[in-house]
Amino acid sequence: MKILLFGCDGQLGTHLNEALPNVAGVEELSGYGINDLNLSHLDRLRQVINDEKPNLIINAAAYTAVDKAESDVELAAKVNAEAPSVMAEVATILNAGMIHYSTDYVFDGTATRPYSEDDIPNPESVYGSTKLDGENAVLMHCKNSLVLRTSWVYSMHGQNFLRTILRLAAERDELKVVGDQIGAPTTTRALTDASLKLVQYFMLHNGFSETVSGVYHMTCGGETSWCGFARAIVSASEYSDTRVLDIPTVDYPTPAKRPAYTVLSNKKLFDTFGISLPDWEAALIECMQEE
Ligand SMILES: NC(=O)c1ccc[n+]([C@@H]2O[C@H](COP(=O)([O-])OP(=O)(O)OC[C@H]3O[C@@H](n4cnc5c(N)ncnc54)[C@H](OP(=O)(O)O)[C@@H]3O)[C@@H](O)[C@H]2O)c1
Repeated sequence: MKILLFGCDGQLGTHLNEALPNVAGVEELSGYGINDLNLSHLDRLRQVINDEKPNLIINAAAYTAVDKAESDVELAAKVNAEAPSVMAEVATILNAGMIHYSTDYVFDGTATRPYSEDDIPNPESVYGSTKLDGENAVLMHCKNSLVLRTSWVYSMHGQNFLRTILRLAAERDELKVVGDQIGAPTTTRALTDASLKLVQYFMLHNGFSETVSGVYHMTCGGETSWCGFARAIVSASEYSDTRVLDIPTVDYPTPAKRPAYTVLSNKKLFDTFGISLPDWEAALIECMQEE
């Protein structure tokens, strides 16, 4: 079994790149970061996949700068939609499978209960819309594929909310954080552990059949606001005296519109594969203890 991993220098990709070689049955892992291959070079991407001849492509690469994407539409579309489309096309030609990650930002956030995979996406940002195009392209071109939507991804490495809050809490007595956007913070460890089980499933069943192929939600359990997340980070840190104040989204304007509510139901993932992720609070503590 040979795996081709894209985005191996990103938050999730780094974790996957470390963990995948330890999975029994994975004989070869080729990891590509942006310095090895710029995914906007689609012909080169096609060539690399054809040369590598993987059994499974895992795409953890993405244009994730949500605000920057609003003014960088062409590149965001190339990385988030056109490159995954090429991956899926070539995967099918090679008779390979594909695992692709997507985002809660495909939804507009108007729901009042966790989104299921049957709910209709309605992205309101360039990032969300290009990621949705990527989902559709992967599912259209590769019938042996899973699209895993996750949310609020972080680890102790890379650029993320956890690291920003820890840095600011060290510098300031008081932080103001948006309290009216609700979601589920998800660690790269929880995502990696769940993804490895899907890789094992893929090997055991010789692929993802048309019955299981499709979109799945994959986030840590529970829900909170960015403010609640920040409070939990601060209280588990050495800066627990720092006050965290709740502010509304209107007081923190950003170029990209964020959905107000993007809790995702993980029921389909559990019902199909028996996989569940830890609650976000337990995952946060585990993540902070890793350092
Ligand atoms: N981060 C989140 O909060 C979040 C939330 C929901 C879903 N997701 C999804 O989860 C997956 C993993 O996200 P993540 O947090 O691990 O993202 P990340 O840390 O930003 O990693 C993405 C990787 O893709 C690389 N990349 C960007 N443009 C590229 C290009 N043109 N060619 C090759 N590589 C390129 C990035 O390189 P550079 O760093 O050098 O740009 C980075 O190493 C993505 O599909 C993302 O959409 C993330």
